[in-house]
Amino acid sequence: MFYLFPFGRVATADGVIIYGAGEVGQSFVRQLNVLNLFPTIYMADKKFTSPQTIENIRYVPAEEVPSLPNYPIVVASVKFGGEISQSLVSQGVSQDRIVTIDSSYALEESQVEPHSYNWNEYYNNAEGHNEVHFHTYLEPLMNKYHFDFSNVLDFACGKGRIAELLSTFSGSLTCVDTNDEAIAYCSERFSNKDNVVCKVSEPESIPVDSGSMSFIYSWDAMVHFDYRSIDYILTEFSRVLKSGGQAVIHHSNAKGHSSFEADKNWRKNPHWRSEFNAQDMAHICQKSGFIIEEQLVIDWGVKSLDCISVIKKR
Ligand SMILES: C[S@@+](CC[C@H](N)C(=O)[O-])C[C@H]1O[C@@H](n2cnc3c(N)ncnc32)[C@H](O)[C@@H]1O
Repeated sequence: MFYLFPFGRVATADGVIIYGAGEVGQSFVRQLNVLNLFPTIYMADKKFTSPQTIENIRYVPAEEVPSLPNYPIVVASVKFGGEISQSLVSQGVSQDRIVTIDSSYALEESQVEPHSYNWNEYYNNAEGHNEVHFHTYLEPLMNKYHFDFSNVLDFACGKGRIAELLSTFSGSLTCVDTNDEAIAYCSERFSNKDNVVCKVSEPESIPVDSGSMSFIYSWDAMVHFDYRSIDYILTEFSRVLKSGGQAVIHHSNAKGHSSFEADKNWRKNPHWRSEFNAQDMAHICQKSGFIIEEQLVIDWGVKSLDCISVIKKR
């Protein structure tokens, strides 16, 4: 079993306190050591009798937690989260500092495909970040390549936060995603825009006509796709793009990373990036009839974690 640290629910701070040094706590520490999110990490447990620092972790007895600095406390237990949280509150710790996890943070070793994952929490958190992603990454590429926006495809659009911005540039914009609830949301969201069409797609087939698209973009979705899925979906991109059509693909660059070894299970890697990299993309493009115009390696919480490939159908 692998226990995912509740990234996104823990406030940014100079340090964090992990309450529980068992399998869950150890799993958290491994993830935090890769990401360097917190300069100070305390690990508290009843089994520690005196404070001790080993490498970057300060191990402390559980009863010392109320007197530690005011850092967020992440309870490393699925079963006893509520109980531990109550006990900490009764010792004077503010409830706001305590983060517990439920069983959705416990992952089987087996792989969950990105199209079967429940992205609801992501959709809610990501919405406010569309403008900064657009201005930082997509707009400079648009200015440089002058993409043909006559018929655009947003592949794996989610709830349409990027489509909201790109719809204003597009003659016609087709948004596709495997998640039918996300597509229902997009249909409602864009109901007043005549140039936007929203369609539920199958994991490996895109419901648009061959040669009908002038430009495809895919943002923060294929970062979770493995080699086989990207290989497959690029044959679909090739089918739906017209000759000379271009695509901007945001994908993982985690494979062969200098600061961690990427796992085959994307959910075990920093920011859930797949075991894939820029070289893999270049290889797939070469055999699928695409020219790589540019590969921009970018930081995503971790240095050089992601890559944006700009590709063109021959
Ligand atoms: C992390 S969300 C990103 C959504 C959107 N691009 C954004 O930036 O807000 C990933 C999305 O990819 C979709 N997805 C995963 N596999 C897919 C596939 N094979 N085809 C189409 N959509 C897929 C999921 O349903 C989910 O909406």
